[in-house]
Order: sequence, then C-alpha cells, then structure tokens
Amino acid sequence: MVDNLTRHFEFADSPENPTAFNLFWYGEKIGSFTFGGRKEWHPEPGYESMFVMDELGKLPCFLDNINPDGWLKGALEVELQTEYVAKGLRFLSNFVIVREGERTDNIVVDELLCGLGQYTGENGVFTGRYEAHQGMAGEDDHDAALKDNWKDRHMPRLSGAEQKLFMTLYPCGTMQPAQRTSFTHFAKYPGVGGYESLGLNEFLGMKMAKAAGLSVPPFALVDQGEHPPLFCVERFDIPHEHDPQAQHKILMQDFCTLMQKEETQKFAGSIEKVFKKVKELSDAYSPELTQANTQALFDRVAASWIMNDGDLHLKNISMIFKVDPATNAIQSASFAPTYDATIDLFSESGGTTTALTLSGTSKANRKLQDFVTLARNVGLFKDENGAFDQSAAQVHLQNMASKMAETAVDFARNPPDLKAMSPVLRQDIRFMASHVVDRARVLGAQTPEWDSKAEWSRFKDNSPKRRKMVADGRFIERNGQTRKVSACRARGRQ
Ligand SMILES: Nc1ncnc2c1ncn2[C@@H]1O[C@H](COP(=O)(O)OP(=O)(O)O)[C@@H](O)[C@H]1O
Ligand SMILES: [Mg+2]
Repeated sequence: MVDNLTRHFEFADSPENPTAFNLFWYGEKIGSFTFGGRKEWHPEPGYESMFVMDELGKLPCFLDNINPDGWLKGALEVELQTEYVAKGLRFLSNFVIVREGERTDNIVVDELLCGLGQYTGENGVFTGRYEAHQGMAGEDDHDAALKDNWKDRHMPRLSGAEQKLFMTLYPCGTMQPAQRTSFTHFAKYPGVGGYESLGLNEFLGMKMAKAAGLSVPPFALVDQGEHPPLFCVERFDIPHEHDPQAQHKILMQDFCTLMQKEETQKFAGSIEKVFKKVKELSDAYSPELTQANTQALFDRVAASWIMNDGDLHLKNISMIFKVDPATNAIQSASFAPTYDATIDLFSESGGTTTALTLSGTSKANRKLQDFVTLARNVGLFKDENGAFDQSAAQVHLQNMASKMAETAVDFARNPPDLKAMSPVLRQDIRFMASHVVDRARVLGAQTPEWDSKAEWSRFKDNSPKRRKMVADGRFIERNGQTRKVSACRARGRQ
C-alpha cells in the first residue's frame, strides 16, 4: 500500500546481504533480482529469454543501465543503484520494481489517454492547459520545484541527463505531472546559461526529422510566457487506452542495453555495429521488417549528421518489441521513432563531431560519398536486379537534406509568435538554420537562399557557447563587453 511504499529506506548492501527486488510488467511479476552486493536474476517461466543479459549472464542489461545521470542524479542525491531503484517504483515500458515483500496493487499502468495532436495548434504550440511548474533549468526556484517532484516514489524514473517532468495529458486538454497517474508525455525544459533555446531546438529537430520522412511521435512547444518555451513529446512505448488493436505489451530497449554496454559506454560505439544489431534482431523476430528497420536507422544517422546533432549515442536510439500477452513471445522488433534529436549550438561554422564512429570517415567531416558507401554496405537502395542503385541513394540523401534545410530556414524566418521570442532566441534559431543549410550544401542538396556566412560572423559575440562561458564564470561582462577572465586577470584587472 502507499504508506508502506513511501517509507524511508536504509541500505546495507553486502555480498552476503544484497537487496532483493521483484520486477513487474503490466501488473504481472516477471522476475526477481538482486544487485548491489551480488547480481542475480530469476525470471518467471516464459520470461527466460526476453532480455539481453550482461556479458557475464548475471543480470538483464537494462537493469544495470537503469541509473539516472546528469542533473537528475544530483537532484535525487543518490549514489547507489540499489537506492535509486528502491526509492522509485515506475520505470519506462511499464516496468514496476519493488523490494521483496512490497505490494504493487495501487500502481498505475501507463497508457495514452489523449493524443497531443488534439491540443496542438498549426504553429506547433500546445493549446491545452499546462499545469506544472514553469521556468528554466538552473534557476533556483525551478530546480527546487522539480526536485520536489522526485520525492514521491510514484514519480516515474528513467535515465537521461536533461531536466524534464513526466506528465499526464487528460482528454480535457489539461497536462499535469504524472505523480500517480499515467505518464503519457515528456516535458523537457530549457535552461539558463546557453540552453535558453533548447525547447525550440528540440522542436526544430523533430520538425526536421518529420520533414525528412523519419517516424516521429506527436510533439509540441509549450508556451511559458516570459520564459522560453519548453518541448513536449508523446510517449511511443505505451498502449493507447481502449485501443482494441493494442493487445500486445510494448518493450523498449536502447542500444546501450541491446549491445551489452554500460551507460558510461554510450558514446563508445560504431554505426556499423548498430546496423548489425538491427539486422540480427529484426531477422530473429520479424524478418519482414529488416529492410524497413535498416532504412529507418540509416535515415536517423543521416538526418542526425545533417542537423549537426553531436548526441546520437547508443541511448538515443532504441528498438520497440511487441510482445504477445498470451504467450510472452516477441512478435515484432522495430526501430523506434526519433527522440532526443537536437542541433549542437555550441559548435560554430563547420559543426560538431558525431558521437558514433563510421569506419573510413572522419567524425567531423562527412561527405555524400560516406553515406552512399554506408547505404551500399548495409544493403539499401537495390534496383530490381538486386544491384546497388547509387543515384537512388544520392537523391534520397539530398532530398532529406533539402527538406530539412527548408524546414529550418522557414522556422528561422517565421518563428512562433510567443512573448518570449527575444532577439537572442531568434538568433539561436538562425544559427540552427545555418548549421543545417551548411551541411545540406555539403551533400550537394538544394537549399533555400540563406546567408550562413553573415550569421556565423555574429557567432563569436552572440552564441549560446558565449552565454555558457559567462554563466560558468569563464567570461566577465564589463562596460557592455565580455572578456575572457584569464585575459583580465593577466592585466591585473580582476
Ligand atoms: N517519446 C518517447 N517515448 C518513449 N520513450 C522516450 C521518448 N523520448 C525519450 N524516451 C526515453 O527517455 C529517455 C530520456 O529521454 P531523452 O529525450 O533522451 O532525454 P535526455 O535529453 O535527458 O537524454 C530516452 O533515452 C528514452 O529511453
Ligand atoms: Mg537522451
């Protein structure tokens, strides 16, 4: 019961006395495990092969990778994996984890109650009521308010570095924190000191992904009045309420887990190995989807480079498995829709390096031919004789880039008409558009008229990078000018 679940925990993990947990999925117990002192996993019958196990075969990888990182780790003030898990209850994909002996009968199953599209205006702005804290990450009252939410054990937990709230969108159009209700939507906040345009950034990232033909969940901007808008996105790993088609359970697993890596190794991977894994999983569970999944990953990789996203790591791509509730058999494996796609605004002209490697190419400078070679190597764009159609691959990439550049330039020229749209935010969007246009031009794609050079000439004094450096104390503002702290110190002015 609730009182029992919200009590305080003491931990004394040791190899002799590890903390024991039960894992529930859609209300059903599917296994028990221990970690901390000693790792052990005891699946219920029928669930022996559902998860990728760690290299030693001791624990499902996803349980090892369930830790928070970044801001959340600090906010929760937990160090121990066991403590983080024991202080929570609800995890992604409708997993519920409780300590041995605790009950789960009052824990909600996450399901979509209302589509975000119903409350999104033509300009992409949420038209319902957002009833949660408004503000920016890094402001004291905001951080304290968000941190407060986590005190409730019923608040869902997941990994990820950015400040977010987990929300319920009700059919009446109200969105509230999902403390004891279905977690249906993510709200991701912008931040101070260089991250002011983060909501707009992720919104444009998704808009471009959609324009390029990638699968995306419904998403919107939430107007925060004086504060820059936040980004809201619908979960794609939960069933729709009352949907008779949705008879399967949904399991989402990221590539860190699927490739038996630890969270800290999320940047340590090659794109080729991800393609191999996608093929292996598709062939095993739904060979009819192998080609579509391969194409979806290819498009995600290409779109990410075109938008100058330096964060396409193994936790930002996943597979969705549909599981038959009667037999527990995995019915299909599909490459998950796009999430966490952003434009790196801390890099100037030329853009940033990619997170994952692609053999024979530079992480910084990719060319049309690099992607064409990748397409050939993974068996895409075959003509009717089964031969690689190089020009089909080129045209596909250039079309993607062209649509993305068009979308970005249009957004820069017609940003949403919100009170918070300051010259700083407008300039940030112009930097975003410049990255995309520049990379589209590298691929030889048609782009709208856009003078990136003129924009980059403003980067030094107006970039988010500069704002971050000021916030970090690496620059000081004096007489309307910013100077490097070290330079000032050297002249004895500080
Ligand atoms: N729309 C979505 N539906 C389901 N799961 C999602 C969705 N977006 C993100 N996730 C999950 O939540 C995690 C954190 O979200 P993400 O957008 O990557 O945040 P961060 O910017 O903090 O990395 C992701 O790694 C993924 O597992
Ligand atoms: Mg992420």
